[in-house]
Amino acid sequence: MRALLGIDVGTSGTKTVLYSVDGAPLASHTAEYPMAQPKNGWAEQDPCDWWRAAVEGIGAVLAKGSAADAVEIAGIGLSGQMHGLVMLDADGAVLRPSIIWCDQRTEAEIEDMKRILGEKRIIEITANPPMTGFTAAKILWVKKNEPEVYAKCAHILLPKDYIRYRLTGEFATEVSDASGMQLMDVAGRKWSDEVLGAFGIDKALLAKMHESQDVTGVTSAACAKETGLAEGIPVVGGAGDNPAAAVGTGVVAHGKAFTTIGTSAVVYAVSDEVRIDLAGRVHSLCASVPGKWTVMSCTQGAGLSLQWLRNNVCTEEMRQADAEGVDPYILMDKLADGVPIGADRLLFLPYLMGERSPHPDPDCRGVFCGLSGVHTRANLIRAVLEGVAYSQRECVEVFREMGVPADDMMITGGGAKSRIWRQMLADLYGCAVSVPKPDEGAALGAAILAGVGTGVWGSLGEACGALIGKGETIQPDPARGAAYEPYYELYKKLYRDLKEDFKTLARI
Ligand code: XUL
Repeated sequence: MRALLGIDVGTSGTKTVLYSVDGAPLASHTAEYPMAQPKNGWAEQDPCDWWRAAVEGIGAVLAKGSAADAVEIAGIGLSGQMHGLVMLDADGAVLRPSIIWCDQRTEAEIEDMKRILGEKRIIEITANPPMTGFTAAKILWVKKNEPEVYAKCAHILLPKDYIRYRLTGEFATEVSDASGMQLMDVAGRKWSDEVLGAFGIDKALLAKMHESQDVTGVTSAACAKETGLAEGIPVVGGAGDNPAAAVGTGVVAHGKAFTTIGTSAVVYAVSDEVRIDLAGRVHSLCASVPGKWTVMSCTQGAGLSLQWLRNNVCTEEMRQADAEGVDPYILMDKLADGVPIGADRLLFLPYLMGERSPHPDPDCRGVFCGLSGVHTRANLIRAVLEGVAYSQRECVEVFREMGVPADDMMITGGGAKSRIWRQMLADLYGCAVSVPKPDEGAALGAAILAGVGTGVWGSLGEACGALIGKGETIQPDPARGAAYEPYYELYKKLYRDLKEDFKTLARI
C-alpha cells in the first residue's frame, strides 16, 4: 500500500503518523520529552530528544503499519514548533539546547535590533516588528552572551529542519516556518540580505529556502539504518506547526481560518496578500500555500496554563484519573462545567510565559484576579479555560479590525477536544466553530504537503478538497455570549492596568 508519513515536532512530544494516500491514518505514535525552564521566562529543549522521539515514532508506525499490509512510503512531510533556534557545529553536532518559541530572554536584543535597522525598516522587510519569541533575537542573544558557541556555529536550523537534517543530511527550510525567524523578506519569500547584513549574520549559516511542498532531499543511508525507513524517500519542505495545521484543517484559501489550542493557542487566517499589524499584536508570515500569506496570533500559555494547573493544583484529579484509567483533563472539564460563566467572579490572565498576541510583552505574567474563600479547584479550572478563550477573542478582534476574515472558523489541537472550550470560543467569537473531519491537524497537513510534492495530488486545494470536510459544528449561543461580555471587558482592562506593574515585578 502507498502511504505518506507526517512527523510533527511539538513542544510536549513528537507525533508521527502514517497515512494511506487517501488520508486515512494507518498508525500513529507520540513520544514525549521535557521542556527546561532554567530561568523565569526561559524555555529550552534538547534537539537530540526530538530526534530520539522521531526515531521511536517512525519505528512504531512502521511496525504497526506494515503489520496490516506492506507499506511503500511515497513521501515524508515535517511539521514543528516554530521560531526555535538550533545551532550545529561544522560536523552537524548540536552546540547548545534549543531556545524554543516561548522563551522570552531577548528583550535587550529587541532594542539592539530597533537601534541597528530601525523598527520601521524591520517591519517593511520581515512583515513583523522585532519580536522576542522570533529566532533572529535569539541568534543575537547567543552571539552576545555565548560568543564561544557562536564562533563554532556552522548551521542554524528550526526544530523540524533539524529532523530533516537527520533524515536527509540536507540543510533546508521552507517559507512558512522561516518567516518566523525574522530574517526573511516575507513579501519576496527569500532571505533578506539587508537584514542579515545589518545584524551581522552570515547567510551561509542559514538553510536553503524552499516552498512548503518542494522536495528538499531524500532519506539517507544513515537514516535508513537508524530508523528502518527505506533509503531515497523524498522529504518535502513541510511547514511550521500552525501553517501545517492550516493544511490539515483545509485552511488553504483566502477567507478561511482556524483556531488551534495546543501548548500555545493560535488563530490563523489565509490572505492573498501580506497584511501587517504595525503594533505587532498579530504576526504576518508566508503561508504553506505558494503565493499566499497568513495573519496569525499566538497566545503563549494556552494548554500550557491548563497543564500547569493540572500538575501543580489538580493533583487529586491526576490521582483519580490514574486510578480510573482516564485522561485527567476529562475530569477537570467536568469540574469546570459545574461552574457558571465568569467562574463565580474569578478571572485568569494566561501570561505564564509572557505574551505575544495581542500583547507583545516578555514581562507580563499570569494572574488570578478575584480569588475568594468560596472558590475551589473547579473555579480555577474554569477561569483558566475562560482566560485562554478571552485571549483568542481579543486576537480575533485584531483580525476583524485589520479586515482579515476570520468567521469561517475551524478548530483543532489537543485543547479543542474539550467541548466546553469549543463552546466558549464559539460564544466569545460570535461565530460557528467546526471540527475538521478527520481531525488530524499538523501531522496530516505535513503528509498532504508530502503528497502534493510527490505528485499524489496536483495541488493543496485539490488534496484538501478530497480529504478534509467539516465534522461537528458548534453554533454560538448569543445569551451565553452576552453573559461573558462584562468579564471579557474586565479581562482586557486588567492587562492595561497591570502592564507597568509587570515591568516593575520583572525588575525587582
Ligand atoms: C507560533 C508559536 C507556537 C509554536 C508552538 O508563533 O510560537 O504556536 O509554533 O508549537
